[in-house]
Order: sequence, then structure tokens, then C-alpha cells
Amino acid sequence: MTMHRICALDDLSNGAAAKFEVGKHVVAVVRINDKVYAIGNRCSHADVALADGDVDCDTKQLSCIRHGSAFSLETGVPSTLPATQPVPVFVVEVRGSDVYISDQPSLNAASSAPRVRRAQP
Ligand code: FES
Repeated sequence: MTMHRICALDDLSNGAAAKFEVGKHVVAVVRINDKVYAIGNRCSHADVALADGDVDCDTKQLSCIRHGSAFSLETGVPSTLPATQPVPVFVVEVRGSDVYISDQPSLNAASSAPRVRRAQP
């Protein structure tokens, strides 16, 4: 995994998403104050760019512009239908005034999928 500089921190608008190419991936990058998140840009429900969606800074979620599924910026897991599968999550580092993102996801659909637990009797 290699970290790539994508922009300066000041290039990112607070509470908005922007699209970047990192290696072979396209990621949606969101800045909330001094914290930066990066998730896969393609909605898991259909081929729609999540970077075109709305950010909820309080819940740290990015909503798909087409049907409204809200994806966690921390885990990639959707909290609302119709999407049921997570999107990949990428490592982000803010080094001084620059933003770096990994070229491989740290969490993907297999590792971040919600686990169903059996109810206790
Ligand atoms: S295309 Fe994203 S929720 Fe349907």
C-alpha cells in the first residue's frame, strides 16, 4: 500500500465531497473540520458517484444523490436502503498541510460487511 498526496488540506471545502483518482481507484474525499475521510466513489447500489452527494457532518455520512442511501465515512457501511453493501474505505493521513490517501482500501465489502449475530435465548 502506497500513500499518495492528492491535494492540500485547504483545497478541500469543509462539509463537501470531492472526487480524486488514487492509483486505480476513484475515491470520494470529505473534509469535516480537520479530519478527512475517503471512501469508494461508486455507490454500491448502482453506478452513481458518491462525491456528488450530500455530507452530514454530524453523523459523518455521505448520501447518494440518486436514491439517498447514506454511507458511513468511517466504515463505508450504508445505514439506509436501498444500498445494502458497504463501499471501500481508504486510509487518509494529513501531513502538515497536505492530504495523503492510500492506493488500496483498508476496509472493503468483505471485511466491513455488517455481521449478523444470533439472538441470545
Ligand atoms: S444509486 Fe446510490 S442509493 Fe441507489
